[in-house]
Amino acid sequence: MNQDTKPMIVTCGLPYANGMAHLGHMRTYVPADIYVRSQKKQGREVVFICGSDTHGTPVVVNAEKEGITPKELVTIYHKHFSDIFTRMGIRFDAYGTTDDEENHIRTTEIVQKLIDGGYVYSKNIDIAYCPRCDRFLPDRYVEGVCPHCGAIARGDECDQGCKKPLYPGELIDPRCAVCKNPAEYRSQEHRFFKLSEFDGFLKEYLETLNGTDNAVNYAKGWVAQGLEDWCITRNMDWGVKFPNADGLVVYVWVDAPIGYIAFTEEWAKDGNDSWEKFWKNNTDGTLNSQNSRIVHFIGGDIVYHHCIFWPAMLKGAGYALPTDVVASGMVKIEDKKFSKSRGYVVWVGEDYLDRGFHPDLLRFYLACYTSHTKELNFGWEMLQEKINSELVAVLGNLFYRSLLFAFKNFGAVPNGTARPEILEKIKQTTTEAVKAMEEYEFKKYSDTVMELASYANTYFQSHEPWALIKTDKEKCGEVVYNCLQLVKALTVLFEPVTPGKMQEAWTQLGLKGNAADTLYEEALVPLVPESKLGTPEILFTKLENDKIAEMDEIAKKRVHSAMKEAGLVPDEEKVLEDSKKEKGSKDKAPKCACAAGEKMDGENTNESALLPEITIDDFFKAQIKVGKILSAEIIEKSTKLYKIMVDVGEETPRQIVSGIRAYYEAEHLVGKTVCVIVNLKAAKLCGVQSQGMILAADDGSGSVSLLMPDQELKPGSDVC
Ligand code: 2FM
Ligand code: ZN
Repeated sequence: MNQDTKPMIVTCGLPYANGMAHLGHMRTYVPADIYVRSQKKQGREVVFICGSDTHGTPVVVNAEKEGITPKELVTIYHKHFSDIFTRMGIRFDAYGTTDDEENHIRTTEIVQKLIDGGYVYSKNIDIAYCPRCDRFLPDRYVEGVCPHCGAIARGDECDQGCKKPLYPGELIDPRCAVCKNPAEYRSQEHRFFKLSEFDGFLKEYLETLNGTDNAVNYAKGWVAQGLEDWCITRNMDWGVKFPNADGLVVYVWVDAPIGYIAFTEEWAKDGNDSWEKFWKNNTDGTLNSQNSRIVHFIGGDIVYHHCIFWPAMLKGAGYALPTDVVASGMVKIEDKKFSKSRGYVVWVGEDYLDRGFHPDLLRFYLACYTSHTKELNFGWEMLQEKINSELVAVLGNLFYRSLLFAFKNFGAVPNGTARPEILEKIKQTTTEAVKAMEEYEFKKYSDTVMELASYANTYFQSHEPWALIKTDKEKCGEVVYNCLQLVKALTVLFEPVTPGKMQEAWTQLGLKGNAADTLYEEALVPLVPESKLGTPEILFTKLENDKIAEMDEIAKKRVHSAMKEAGLVPDEEKVLEDSKKEKGSKDKAPKCACAAGEKMDGENTNESALLPEITIDDFFKAQIKVGKILSAEIIEKSTKLYKIMVDVGEETPRQIVSGIRAYYEAEHLVGKTVCVIVNLKAAKLCGVQSQGMILAADDGSGSVSLLMPDQELKPGSDVC
């Protein structure tokens, strides 16, 4: 079925082995597993790789808090993750750790290649140092103010604000994360990777990269802003030793992705296969020339590392390049921002599996709540509603009524033939579902298959086999045969999403082998009349109100005690958030963040420089009106622009060209109420006439947001 027969590696971002698995993790791993199962069903050679990220300060800081060594900590959580993945039906072909010998060797080899290639240099830089603790403070050991956006940030990343990676020495007002005392900067020699030299390569490469827009477009935006060289050493003992640099280890973001290669080597050793065919096949060095597909599933917060650092490293060391990067959207818990410290978290073991919930229910919810790149909200009542109204009422109902009726009345698969329109419907569904999968649209995949289940239920209902059995057993057999054929097809098609339950259905159908090993083609293979059926059992049972109420109560208690521990009550919490926002914006001059077009990208120069003073009259020269977006479409000649039609209260809508394509999907713009400069001189951008400018704010780090009134206003209202 799949035309592209290149062998495929699929990887998932490596979880830090420093704490328990939560729902946020599953948002990436479950869809990746669904994708891999679907690839296997298309007959493709695919190897699924992951492992524990065991180095870096996320591990060392937690080990210190627990009073154990990093090795002890990662041993505990490596096992934890490995068990959770197995219980969730996530079947990696290899699950290693970045502390494995293979990874130490491969990392050293790649770093040495980069050194030999002239991509690494030494430089003295300021490193935060805590005089009280008497030590250097790498990454998460130091906190301070982000130099880009003013938010409180940790040493390696502006995790609460603009999300930019930060480099040692960049934080303003650094303080020690352990003792909370002010830190000082001390000069020390470190090694840098010449990322800036890969600018041209990355621009070209990102044009060829497949995957989700939230990954590829963000990366393009960052490269367009210019790349800085990257400090790849840290003052720590725990990690991969940097060659010929006493007391320094390789930065965790170097050896973690190299784990993808090392774990492929581990897989290859076990099965006597070749890892090189995936990672070392880029023979002529040109883009698109490689003979493998390398697909990375990651969380939306680590796009920079996978689309910029990692391909540059691979290119510099002569390895094959990622072909697809698939980034998942954020997870909210009960409509609140996911936060372990505030109690908005669902632990996969403790809260879900250990309480007897079946893994497939969560897999289904994660697949079909929303598109992969959108925000996913988890709530116990929403889970209940989804499971009861779809898996129980539609899929489960069809399976049980068809299998039970056949078993009771015929004792086996009845005599019959698959009707051409039924086979056609199965074929169409399979084609559509596989297409959705290729586009990383897991919700669409699941919805498409669920539609086939609804069709099958209608078929059962409208043919009334319970009446036919009394009047025409042969005709009844025909109907039931076709129902079972639909059940078989649905079992094959739904196996990637709910593998455990579909295996049970496979057994109930009396079929040999495993549903997981069955190709999509099998959905169309007719059942053998009179073949034995297994005992029918209900596959999906309703999630009952009291169970859900119990879970709600647990969730509420957790939030309450987390708040108490943090000394917060909800109102105080809000005040704190507001003051943080204020602090973040304090030191920054407002900046023109219009969304007029491609040219503006190049004009984003000095963010904080104030323009010359203007009078109120100058300001009023710009006529700004409220507008409603009626449509938005891509301008084919450009990579950044939309042609947007906006109602600004005039007789005909305005046509405006806007450079916000990297930040908004066209369908999400429609209906938004925005602010428009309506007396701007008309201009042509990429050959398309633009009659105004839609206002947006840009924090300079890749986050752009339209300026919108905080209540619904009539198009044409004046902004004054
Ligand atoms: O952000 C994280 O959780 C990292 N442990 C992901 C590493 S992914 C890869 F590059 F190894
Ligand atoms: Zn920031």
